[in-house]
Amino acid sequence: MTAYLDHAATTPMLPEAVRVLTEQLARPGNPSSLHTAGRAARRVVEEAREQAAAALGARPSEVLWTSGGTEADNLAVKGLFWARRTHDPSRRRILVSAVEHHAVLDPAFWMAEHAGAELVLLPVDADGVLVVDALREELERNGAQAALLSVMWANNEVGALQPLDEVVALARRFGVPVHADAVQAVGQVPVDFAASGLDAMTVSGHKVGGPGGAGALLARRGLELTPVLHGGGQERGVRSGTLDAPLLASFAAALDEAVRRRPEHAARVGALRDDLVAGVQAAVPDAVLRGPADTARRLPANAHFTFPGCEGDSLLYLLDSAGVEASTGSACQAGVPRPSHVLLAMGVDEDDARGALRFSLGHTSTAADVDAALAALPGVVERARAAGLAGRPGAPVGA
Ligand SMILES: Cc1ncc(COP(=O)(O)O)c(C=O)c1O
Repeated sequence: MTAYLDHAATTPMLPEAVRVLTEQLARPGNPSSLHTAGRAARRVVEEAREQAAAALGARPSEVLWTSGGTEADNLAVKGLFWARRTHDPSRRRILVSAVEHHAVLDPAFWMAEHAGAELVLLPVDADGVLVVDALREELERNGAQAALLSVMWANNEVGALQPLDEVVALARRFGVPVHADAVQAVGQVPVDFAASGLDAMTVSGHKVGGPGGAGALLARRGLELTPVLHGGGQERGVRSGTLDAPLLASFAAALDEAVRRRPEHAARVGALRDDLVAGVQAAVPDAVLRGPADTARRLPANAHFTFPGCEGDSLLYLLDSAGVEASTGSACQAGVPRPSHVLLAMGVDEDDARGALRFSLGHTSTAADVDAALAALPGVVERARAAGLAGRPGAPVGA
């Protein structure tokens, strides 16, 4: 039996999402077509929009469907930047936390290289939490040149929750729109778009028990976004492309269920996570838990460690052969493993950062999965240590 402990990379679909998807798959009709089948498909899409909006504390008109989290993040960064610059060319600075997912960081770097943006990476503390004072200083000094600010709701590697209330309050003072990538937060912590005061927020289907290839950018009413994709003018002209009614209906069903079940789910996986953390610390006393130690300040399903003297990829492959699937937490570039930018931003030195391993729990996780990981880990760490930092394998790892 395999213990799947990589739910932050992707989590199995929820039964209700599978049911809705299979029920819808064989139905004909492009939601933009005017005939009966097209109107029926449109109805499915609009009901999904209402369901997704209700789950996330948004209005239906604020939901822009995308192909996933990556596209929504790209639309937020590029679309907000270009829309702001149209009105005020002096607003060139893109402010992002140094621990953003590559789906935010890379568009921001790209805009700096190709679109005249100035990139400002905001520092985090040793727990991976944004240093709010640094943001305040940046805004006080250069707020009039800020085009947008993007700070994730929760970090995908170390699970740190970010101080979004303070971020939004500060940004408001300077008239800077705020985007948050909430891909990892939804279904684990309460997420309410209206209450958050955010201008834009990213969600993704396959992280909440929905299908891959579906996501959304929530954009507050009146927020100007320049399109990244041009074509048929779907989604308020902001995101062209034929909408996939079955996929979106399934995504919305997953969102609804994940959000409704969140309190009990978070309590259950949080307890499993506590057992896992305690077990790892007992079995490998020099393992270092990364991210906030205070469980109220981190995602309930995340446990991230560094193991001194180990290579994360070795740990991953050795655990995999023992039937335990985990992650180093960061994707490698073109097959070359690099220490995580998140850990480096937290001040972890390169050697320690190489020994990263992330366990992430989800709706199918059981105590047996945790036991399997704890049983395998001491031997795996010993072997990874013996191999040392030499001869690192280089196969890509996800999310
Ligand atoms: C925080 C975060 N943002 C964005 C993404 C990308 O989402 P998607 O896989 O839907 O493109 C991920 C997935 O790894 C993520 O963890």
